[in-house]
Parts: sequence; structure tokens; C-alpha cells
Amino acid sequence: MKSVSHLVRVSILVLLLGTVFLFVAWTNDELDNAQAFHSKEEIAFFMKGGGSLPIGENTYFKTSGHCYGCHGPDANNFSMIDSNGVDVNVSDDWRSTMMANSARDPFWRAKVSHEILVNPAHQVGLEDKCTSCHAPAGHHDKVLTGAGPYSIAELTQDPVGVGWRQLRSMPYPKCR
Ligand code: HEC
Ligand code: HEC
Repeated sequence: MKSVSHLVRVSILVLLLGTVFLFVAWTNDELDNAQAFHSKEEIAFFMKGGGSLPIGENTYFKTSGHCYGCHGPDANNFSMIDSNGVDVNVSDDWRSTMMANSARDPFWRAKVSHEILVNPAHQVGLEDKCTSCHAPAGHHDKVLTGAGPYSIAELTQDPVGVGWRQLRSMPYPKCR
């Protein structure tokens, strides 16, 4: 009887020690960090953007200059090319589009002015509505931060809103 309880005690001790060793072994056995293709310095360089596109941000949006370093042309002609080696980078493709220029388009500005000329009492509503699609980065940032309707006067002073220069009208996480 005595030897059985002794056996139980020893088993428990071995079990406890085993558990401790298991955890020690685990903490000492860390996995290697995944190897990134680009170095930290390269990523920092890409994040600086460039290509004469503006660098700026408001609460929810970053301008397209922030995207150019990775989505613009590749000086090494390694990425952003088609099978014939022709540059097909999406930044340069996008920046010439009607969408990219929708808040700077003089015809659009003229049409907004004309709408207000015809309906002066609706100026605030009209400007807020028209900018919701034509200058979404400025408009939605103001609305989402609870600061009220967005105007053309504000738009002309707003480097993030004016270009509608986001690669797309998507909110983009600032951690990139
Ligand atoms: C540090 C490099 C880097 C920067 C800076 C960067 N991107 Fe990207 N982006 C990537 C990579 C890499 C992918 C592809 C990810 C994948 O396929 O898993 C990607 C994918 C995307 C996609 C999806 C494309 C698709 O067809 O599915 C969009 C949209 C996008 N990025 C927008 C942006 C915008 C907007 C900015 C600037 C505000 C930006 N990116 C800045 C590296 C970057
Ligand atoms: C729901 C989104 C949306 C709203 C709101 C909006 N637009 Fe547009 N607008 C567009 C889109 C998309 C186009 C491009 C259409 C195309 O390419 O066929 C456009 C094009 C235009 C054009 C033609 C630009 C050109 O150079 O050909 C004018 C002018 C215009 N919009 C004026 C206005 C005015 C004025 C308002 C406010 C009263 C307004 N838009 C509100 C989405 C919108």
C-alpha cells in the first residue's frame, strides 16, 4: 500500500516536472522570422512614394503619392511589366483617367457653379452631393469625422480632397 502511494507521488512529480520542461522547451524553440523579400530600407523607400504625385493624408485617406513606390513603375523592370517587358504600372495608368481628375475637371466645376446659379438656396446641399462622388476623399473624410457638409471652397484648399488622387476611392489602412 505504502509503495503504491509512493509510486503515485513520484508519477505526479514527474508529470509536473515534465510540464515545466515542456514549456521551457517551447519558449526556447522559437520559430525563425519569415524572410521578407524586401529589406526594411527598401520598404521605407517605397513608402515614401514619389512620381510627382502628392503626398498627404487626412483621417481616413492617403494620397496616391503614397502608393507610387510600390504600385508605380519598377526601375529594375522586374515587376509591373507585361510578358514583352512593357511597363504597365497601375499608378501611371490610373492617374490619367477621368476618375483620377474628377474634382479638377473644369467642366465639372463649371456644372456645379451653374447648378448653384440656378438654385442658389441649395448651394450647401449641391456642393456636398457633387463632391460625394467627384471628391470622395475630402467629402467622406469630413462627413465621417462628423464635421458637416463639404464645400467647393474647402475642396480648393484641400490637397487630399482636390485630386481625388487615391488609387481607388477605398479607405486604405495607414499601417502600410
Ligand atoms: C509597401 C508597398 C505598397 C504600398 C506603399 C502600397 N501597396 Fe497596394 N499592394 C501592395 C502589394 C504587394 C499588393 C498585392 C498584395 C497581394 O496580392 O496579396 C497590393 C495590392 C493592392 C490592391 C489590390 C489590387 C488587386 O488587384 O487586388 C489595391 C487596391 C492597393 N494595393 C491599393 C493601394 C493604395 C491605394 C495604396 C496607397 C494609398 C497602396 N496600395 C500602397 C503593396 C503596396
Ligand atoms: C453618384 C455619384 C455622382 C454624383 C453624386 C455626381 N456625379 Fe458627376 N459624375 C459621376 C460619374 C461616375 C461621372 C463619369 C460618367 C461617365 O464617365 O460617363 C460623372 C461625370 C460628370 C460630369 C462630366 C464630366 C466631363 O468632363 O465629361 C459632370 C459635368 C458632372 N459629373 C457633374 C456633376 C454635378 C454638377 C454633380 C452634383 C449635382 C455630380 N456630378 C454628382 C458621378 C457622380
